[in-house]
Amino acid sequence: MILKELYPDINFIFLDEIDSTNTYCRNLTLDDFNNMTVVISDVQKDGRGTKGRRWSSPKGKSLLFSILLKPKILISDLSFIPILTSVALNDTFKAFNINTYIKWPNDIILDNKKLCGILTESKIINNKLDYIIIGIGINVNVEKEDFSNDLKPIATSLKISTGNTYDKNEILIKFISIFEENYNELLNNNKAIILNKYKANSFILNKKVSLVSRYNSEIVTPIDILEDGSLLVKDIYNNKRNIVSGEVSLRF
Ligand code: BTN
Repeated sequence: MILKELYPDINFIFLDEIDSTNTYCRNLTLDDFNNMTVVISDVQKDGRGTKGRRWSSPKGKSLLFSILLKPKILISDLSFIPILTSVALNDTFKAFNINTYIKWPNDIILDNKKLCGILTESKIINNKLDYIIIGIGINVNVEKEDFSNDLKPIATSLKISTGNTYDKNEILIKFISIFEENYNELLNNNKAIILNKYKANSFILNKKVSLVSRYNSEIVTPIDILEDGSLLVKDIYNNKRNIVSGEVSLRF
């Protein structure tokens, strides 16, 4: 199946090699664009992850792409985009009978290890959202020996965990249709539907986890995820508080 025929309104750009599909999208915003654009690359020389980390993947074995959108949403809904994207990714894997979970804020977990990550970037001009870039890296056919020694214990791929080889194109086709459905739910103000799916597939809700910040580590139990994307946790004294992503990481 050809993506361009299935989704004639989406502008697809296929690249063999690029520094980062997110950076490529950012440069596209200098031109006028209206329709959703999806940039896919076989390899990235300078792939970027969250918290300023690098995201490296062997050539051809990962699905590396970014979605560039002129959003029709309010700035206050921006924090919902990673929630919506992780639900769409999780539902995509479920459609292939792969049992994934969502680890707050937006990692997809398979076999207790990270399968894919999301890096969302946006620009606001005069209190209005100008664009959103949603960068997604999925470890599809990556082999164990492709991961560096520090990643081996914490990262997985569809191939490592299921033993099967997957067609990246089929995964992308499925993901785009589910993403569009979820995005339309957000436009129609049906956030609760998406948030409920997020919670139902959470890897961390009601489990004891270590909340690790730059300065300390503490045992907490996440009890809810709110519409603004924050996490409500209960500490060992039963005090509740809200955690915003970016500040902390969760470990088991
Ligand atoms: C994370 O650290 O969990 C987020 C990783 C996001 C990686 C993807 S790969 C495609 C897109 N381009 C980038 O440079 N990063 C994102």
